[in-house]
Amino acid sequence: MDVTWGQAAAVLDGNWLGSSTVPSRSLYPHQWSWDSAFIAIGLRNLAPSRARRELTTLFSAQWRDGRVPHIVFDPGTPPEAYFPGPSFWRAGRTSGLVQPPVHARAALAVHEAEPDYEFLAALYPKLVAWHDYLRISRDAGGRGLAAIVHPWESGMDNSPAWDAPLSRVTPSSGFVRRDLQHGAAADRPSDEDYGRYVRLAADYRDSGYRDAGSFVVEDPGFNALLADGELALAEIAETLDLPSDAHREAAARIQKALQESLWDGDFFFARDVRSGALIRQYTCAGLLPLLLPDLAVAPALLATATGPRFGLGRVHGVPSHDLTAPEFDTGRYWRGPSWFNVGWLVRQGLLRHGEHALASRLRDDLVETASRTDFAEYVDPLTGQGHGARSFGWTAALTVDLLAQPVAVA
Ligand code: SER
Repeated sequence: MDVTWGQAAAVLDGNWLGSSTVPSRSLYPHQWSWDSAFIAIGLRNLAPSRARRELTTLFSAQWRDGRVPHIVFDPGTPPEAYFPGPSFWRAGRTSGLVQPPVHARAALAVHEAEPDYEFLAALYPKLVAWHDYLRISRDAGGRGLAAIVHPWESGMDNSPAWDAPLSRVTPSSGFVRRDLQHGAAADRPSDEDYGRYVRLAADYRDSGYRDAGSFVVEDPGFNALLADGELALAEIAETLDLPSDAHREAAARIQKALQESLWDGDFFFARDVRSGALIRQYTCAGLLPLLLPDLAVAPALLATATGPRFGLGRVHGVPSHDLTAPEFDTGRYWRGPSWFNVGWLVRQGLLRHGEHALASRLRDDLVETASRTDFAEYVDPLTGQGHGARSFGWTAALTVDLLAQPVAVA
């Protein structure tokens, strides 16, 4: 057995709670939504029944309105282990925010590894309700794109793209950050940003999780994953002998809206729905539409990906932010470091656009970097040095998945 494979499997075993997997025993000691989807993608190669359990546990906490909460709290973990915990959210055993919709793709991948029609048939209506919530209830801008109402919903918390809309939020104070007990302050969001996250979440909670506050944003990464998720739902429907046209049409509508509303010049940018303005920051979220196979602007987007802003193929992984921007920071959370889930997604996108040599280089780099850094949460794109937590769930899971894939022909 490959040494890295065994080490990654040991990380996933160590992070397993019995019916779900924590991203990190220290920093994130509960179940996180998009982490679980990536973890299931890895687990399908090791223990398909655990991969199925990971997803069914998450969806057992789905809300009646269709949303899949971004955190499902583990009742056995002490309340002081993470802030903001269940008493903050006042939503039973979950938070009230969401995270990017990678679950349909994960469910399909799990079924492909070990077919289980019962699992897929039980999850399908839940996945449909989840996507319907995003496509309908979250279309705040009326452009056919799902809006996020908190930076945590993008999964890319302190991306420089959120600086402008966040500047309208008055930071909360009087709470204790638990994350700094486990991570270096220089690697984590600033106190000021954290205060704004808490204020926004409290305001949303106080509205009964209905009315968005001053942060309402159409994110190209979130919407690319939703469109890709609709394509996965179409495949799931076909596998179950159900009609699939509505899913393909939904994917096409989202892709059209992405191109018409968020593409400008050489990149996909987020839009601030409150001000109406495009936020002209080149972040890794704008690379995720590469997942869409018939994307007309793919050649221009690939040119940006391989150019000086992201240096794809010449740096470690996929930088979370523009290497040439003044805000670029090699170590601070989503302001520059490379994350393994983004690297895995961009590799998928490269394969879908026939970029096999680049996909193969990225795969080799991701596996080497993950193994060398003890499965770090994120890495400096220039040096490959690890940052954040170690033994990180999706880093280990996606390493297993990359090792399990046939190596692409260059
Ligand atoms: N990423 C957020 C945190 O740092 C919540 O999902 O806690």
